[in-house]
Amino acid sequence: MIDGSAAHLRAGGTSLVIALGDRRLPRILHWGEDLGALSTDDLGGIVRTALPAVGDSPVTYPQPVPVLPQLAEGWLGRPGITGDSDGRRWASRFLVVEHRVDEEADGPALRVLARDDAYGLDLALELQVLRASGLVRQRAELVNRGVEPFRVGGVELSLPVPHEAAELLDLTGRWSLERVPQRHSFHVGEWVRASRGGKPGLEHTMLLAAGAPGFGFRSGRVWATHLAWSGNQVLVAERTPADTRHLVAGESLLPGEVVLERDASYRTPWQYGSWGDGLDELAARFHRHLRAARPLGPRPVVLNTWEAVYFRHDLATLTALAERGAEVGVERFVVDDGWFTGRRDDTTSLGDWEVDAEVWPDGLQPLVERVRELGMDFGLWFEPEMVSRDSALARAHPDWLFDAGHGPGLPSRHQHVLDLAHPDAYAHVLDRMSTLIAALHVDYVKWDHNRYLLDAGHTPGGRPGMRRQTQQVYRLMSELRERHPWLEIESCASGGGRIDLGVLEFADRVWPSDCNDPHERLEIQRWTGLLVPPERQGTHLGAAESHTTHRVHPLDYRAEKAIWGHLGIEVDLLAAGAGELARIGGWIAFHKAHRELLHHGVVVHADLVEPAARLEGVVAEDSREALFALSLVERPRTWPLGRVGLPGLDDDMVYEVRVVAPGGEAHITATQPPWIADGVRLPGRVLRTVGLESPRLDADRSMLFHAVAV
Ligand code: DGJ
Repeated sequence: MIDGSAAHLRAGGTSLVIALGDRRLPRILHWGEDLGALSTDDLGGIVRTALPAVGDSPVTYPQPVPVLPQLAEGWLGRPGITGDSDGRRWASRFLVVEHRVDEEADGPALRVLARDDAYGLDLALELQVLRASGLVRQRAELVNRGVEPFRVGGVELSLPVPHEAAELLDLTGRWSLERVPQRHSFHVGEWVRASRGGKPGLEHTMLLAAGAPGFGFRSGRVWATHLAWSGNQVLVAERTPADTRHLVAGESLLPGEVVLERDASYRTPWQYGSWGDGLDELAARFHRHLRAARPLGPRPVVLNTWEAVYFRHDLATLTALAERGAEVGVERFVVDDGWFTGRRDDTTSLGDWEVDAEVWPDGLQPLVERVRELGMDFGLWFEPEMVSRDSALARAHPDWLFDAGHGPGLPSRHQHVLDLAHPDAYAHVLDRMSTLIAALHVDYVKWDHNRYLLDAGHTPGGRPGMRRQTQQVYRLMSELRERHPWLEIESCASGGGRIDLGVLEFADRVWPSDCNDPHERLEIQRWTGLLVPPERQGTHLGAAESHTTHRVHPLDYRAEKAIWGHLGIEVDLLAAGAGELARIGGWIAFHKAHRELLHHGVVVHADLVEPAARLEGVVAEDSREALFALSLVERPRTWPLGRVGLPGLDDDMVYEVRVVAPGGEAHITATQPPWIADGVRLPGRVLRTVGLESPRLDADRSMLFHAVAV
């Protein structure tokens, strides 16, 4: 609802109360818990009680920060907008002209038009609370109504958090060790997490959270922001000396990347905000949002050829691999890197998207036919934005490579980047991919991206092309999906280098990491899960000795960590013995039997005192069933571990809890606590509060518990 001075957007368990008075840009007074229906008087009351004194100056009497803070309004913090017209029009002062609330199908939206008459700039703001999830999102559109071109430096939007939010959490990482959490106090200043390589990157924080000190997965009020954008960006937690705290997000623009001629506009990506009592609730909002935005059918079990054969492709080997896959229950066969002309290692041929005639004299068709006979889907790897200098494409069209004025720049993994804003380059890639997808009826594209954009200048001239590149990638994905409506896409960028709600509008899943070591995967999947639900995370069973860390793990631990997401196999099935194949088949069958639960349920984590222990699970939406894994990542300091509570169950339902061992190795011995052998029947409230005595486990081992309401 809306009255003269405030609006109340309410959906999905979230309330957003926004002050609109004095023609100032919207100021969020409350973001969080649903406040129930509020009358006009209530809203007026909130405005009167939430706003501080105005005093003689907004600098000495700081006011709540608007969603786009401006210097000219007395804001000395990080500017919401920067830009100029050759040194003029650099200190905008937008005043609201009109606003309204629309009840959209996906949630109420406040639309505000503001104008800076002196500068001839318009600003349209859109704030929405989404019905399915209770997520908040906002974006801005800047229009130049003046004659002089307006050069946009940046437009960053802001979501305030209360003083209670005194601790920050964000993520960092590197190749094969993505999404490592870091926490610290929310001090005065700006905590800035920037991505500058043309994609969010392996080290990207994905989201930036601020919460009550010590917030965990199950408790502690916490708020977070995320930018739905796959290019350069910045996420900032800022606390001013006057103790304004807010979470900022925006696209980072390169010099001259957006120059608005008269009546031209620049629109920001959506800034998303989630909140919860604990990270599980915060993450569940993102999961619900993605599930509502594009529901997916059952996720077919994948066999990806990469770690089994790398570049060693031939029809006999891949056919045999597909046959083995079908025997153990695989449903989708994905041919990774190495199938196209000249690609025998990673030094050449990116861009030459023709099936290699030497390796595949009859093309990929015979393999695809066999895959189909076996009842499986077919997937193919591409790296559409990349080009090797040693390729027919680069030799024929050197001007299609990005160049900021010093040539194509440093190679990285021996490769460079194709400028997809070049119309012929775009048309070439679209045509090659589309032709192959149609001819082979490719069901699934694994879309890789292994080089950061260091020198993304258009030729000739070198003007920056980072932003256009991201837009063109979205356009390419969307055109391919339109032409081939059955197509699914995986966003893979050396592992987790491009994971965001922008790409997830077109991609069905992400590849969180090239690391299949279950020890690392437990953490990578846990933290990627703050944004991405399990069914959209590729989780693969790798070799006993991890190809990235060289740790060795038994099959059951590797398989257990793979069943939680979109399950895949990368272990070389041709080298596996009959016993191993049978156990892999057992895990796949278990995953299939439970994927409805795993892929639609609510993800939960326990906050355990013992630093070596992890308990994660998925609880069905109706709470009638759940699966939990208790793992040890190293030898625990507490021994025995003691009782662990099972989170997320319905307090008032009675559950039968049993240990399940899909690989057949039950760990059930006389030295385990008595309930492990026969299970137990207890109310959800008891399971949550009193908990169950933990089994004895070694480091890098786990046990699965299945809970069913009786
Ligand atoms: C990097 C990806 O993350 C891997 O899974 C694999 O597809 C290789 N690229 C292929 O070159």
